[in-house]
Amino acid sequence: MQRLSQRWRNVIIAGTIFLTGLVRADVTNEVAASVHAELKCASCHAGKLESKRAIAEMCASCHSDVRRMNPYGLPTDQLARYKTSKHGEQLFEHNDQNVAVCTDCHGTHDILKVKSPQSRAFPTNIPATCGRCHSDAKLMSQYKLPSDVVDKYKTSHHAHLLLEKGDLSAPTCITCHGNHGATPPGTAEVGQVCGKCHVRQRELFAKSPHAEVATAGAFNECVSCHGNHAIQKASVELYAKACTECHANDPKQLKVRDAVSGLIRQAQADYRHAEETVHAATIRGLATDDDQVLLQDAKTQVTQLEVLQHTLTMAQLEPVAQHSGETVAQVLTDVRHMERFELLKHKALWPVWAFLVMMAIIFWAKHRQLEKQDKP
Ligand code: HEC
Ligand code: HEC
Ligand code: HEC
Ligand code: HEC
Ligand code: HEC
Ligand code: HEC
Ligand code: HEC
Ligand code: HEC
Repeated sequence: MQRLSQRWRNVIIAGTIFLTGLVRADVTNEVAASVHAELKCASCHAGKLESKRAIAEMCASCHSDVRRMNPYGLPTDQLARYKTSKHGEQLFEHNDQNVAVCTDCHGTHDILKVKSPQSRAFPTNIPATCGRCHSDAKLMSQYKLPSDVVDKYKTSHHAHLLLEKGDLSAPTCITCHGNHGATPPGTAEVGQVCGKCHVRQRELFAKSPHAEVATAGAFNECVSCHGNHAIQKASVELYAKACTECHANDPKQLKVRDAVSGLIRQAQADYRHAEETVHAATIRGLATDDDQVLLQDAKTQVTQLEVLQHTLTMAQLEPVAQHSGETVAQVLTDVRHMERFELLKHKALWPVWAFLVMMAIIFWAKHRQLEKQDKP
């Protein structure tokens, strides 16, 4: 009896939606232009879609079905992953209607392929998709969450690359949080998240004195020094800020900071001096191709130091700093050598000039003498 009435209810819903389709040209057009153009209204509207949970389960009725998704090569784990996210947890365990469900991130009737640049799920559109809720101060305050994460992200070097340069290799919200499994990475995962792209820095961090503290949960790997959302281009100036936040009164740690940053500053200054010297010499035609090669080599070593400092270990940095110093010294010696040679060339010409001038005077004198003799 109950099953029958349920079936009748669904028929009525499908019938209503069918009739609505006749009058709602906007919806019909949206569906026709979407990735679901092949679907009928009733494919999604067979039951009531009043709660977000019903929507997730309706979408998953196809998207978790391997047989249905295989022809399109689509994965079928979205609902399973979604349930592990903070959003999914809140919805399925607490029936919280404020969290994001499938349609909040993909749209309803206008869903596009995620690779389409117009899709809400496309990397450059994601900050706005998440920001619809995560920039809503009233909504976020209910959960004691900050509402400035999107604004902060927009000031980051990552956002600059993604949103202004169109560099899709830079991370957006879901790169660090996961799409369907969106959660804040805990201290255990942060390094993994950053290390997906910054592999070398992570390897080097593992050799630093903070690696052990991070494993114990007292240090947030990369985030402790670089922050999470508002990550800026890093320079040696970061040492002035980052270390004192935790070590303001630790002379031993500050000594390590000064040693490491001092070494980098010295190498950077030496390189700049060499670069200026070669530049000036090039204008005077006194620099060789060899100098340019050496200069490039020195630059590579300075860049290496900026990466290697993630070990915070002088023994790792010193050999590279020494090599860099030697390369720079070699460049300067070369240029000085060329300058001396050029000077020598000028000096070598002086006797020739003196000889020519002398000869001219002698000729002139001889000429005058002959003129006098010729006079009657
Ligand atoms: C991919 C699944 C899907 C398809 C296909 C689909 N719908 Fe919907 N539709 C939904 C969902 C989900 C909602 C609920 C939105 C909400 O409550 O947030 C909805 C809501 C609606 C609504 C009420 C909200 C509004 O936008 O006015 C109407 C009317 C509607 N659909 C009509 C149609 C018609 C007509 C068709 C066929 C042309 C259609 N739908 C095809 C998923 C779909
Ligand atoms: C918090 C936002 C968000 C929610 C909620 C969400 N998605 Fe997604 N989804 C995305 C993003 C972003 C991508 C693109 C992933 C990428 O580019 O790596 C995506 C990708 C997809 C894809 C393409 C294949 C894939 O897995 O990469 C499908 C299909 C999909 N989602 C369906 C769903 C369904 C069904 C639900 C609900 C159970 C859902 N999504 C919930 C953000 C979301
Ligand atoms: C009746 C089955 C069915 C239902 C219900 C359904 N979908 Fe789909 N969906 C498909 C099929 C089939 C495709 C692949 C279409 C294609 O690639 O041509 C697809 C494609 C997608 C894509 C694009 C994946 C890509 O290639 O990037 C997204 C996103 C998506 N669906 C989300 C949803 C969401 C969200 C819902 C619920 C509101 C939903 N779908 C409901 C069958 C369904
Ligand atoms: C429809 C609104 C909505 C959208 C869209 C949305 N979220 Fe959320 N999100 C919420 C709400 C509400 C919470 C709070 C849940 C809680 O903490 O109980 C939340 C929680 C989170 C959390 C967990 C925070 C914490 O520390 O508990 C993360 C991470 C998150 N969202 C990431 C994202 C990302 C990334 C996107 C975009 C891909 C996104 N959200 C889109 C509403 C939304
Ligand atoms: C480069 C990686 C990265 C990107 C990109 C990123 N996040 Fe986060 N986010 C984090 C980390 C790491 C945390 C955890 C905070 C911590 O442990 O200090 C976090 C925390 C959060 C939280 C929990 C609130 C809080 O401050 O603790 C929310 C919500 C959130 N992010 C949403 C977003 C949204 C929305 C975007 C896109 C605009 C985004 N995140 C982009 C790494 C990132
Ligand atoms: C999806 C890949 C990706 C992820 C994940 C990622 N980044 Fe980046 N990051 C980049 C790219 C690409 C650049 C720009 C290239 C460069 O300068 O090295 C960049 C640049 C940076 C810079 C500036 C580099 C400079 O030249 O000064 C810092 C610092 C940084 N990221 C830290 C982090 C931290 C910390 C995390 C984790 C919370 C993180 N990144 C997560 C891809 C990523
Ligand atoms: C103890 C503080 C500290 C920690 C922890 C830290 N960094 Fe750095 N990072 C710095 C400083 C300082 C610089 C600038 C060095 C310079 O340019 O002289 C920097 C530079 C960078 C750069 C740009 C230069 C380069 O290496 O290409 C990237 C990218 C970067 N860090 C990523 C990371 C990632 C990823 C992690 C986590 C595995 C991490 N950092 C952990 C302090 C830190
Ligand atoms: C988020 C807090 C935090 C930041 C930021 C931080 N440290 Fe630490 N550091 C710690 C903790 C915790 C320890 C382990 C306990 C201790 O030795 O103080 C530690 C240990 C060290 C040690 C090992 C000391 C020993 O006795 O073996 C050195 C060296 C050090 N830090 C240097 C630095 C430098 C240099 C910076 C800046 C680039 C920095 N730290 C930034 C928290 C931090």
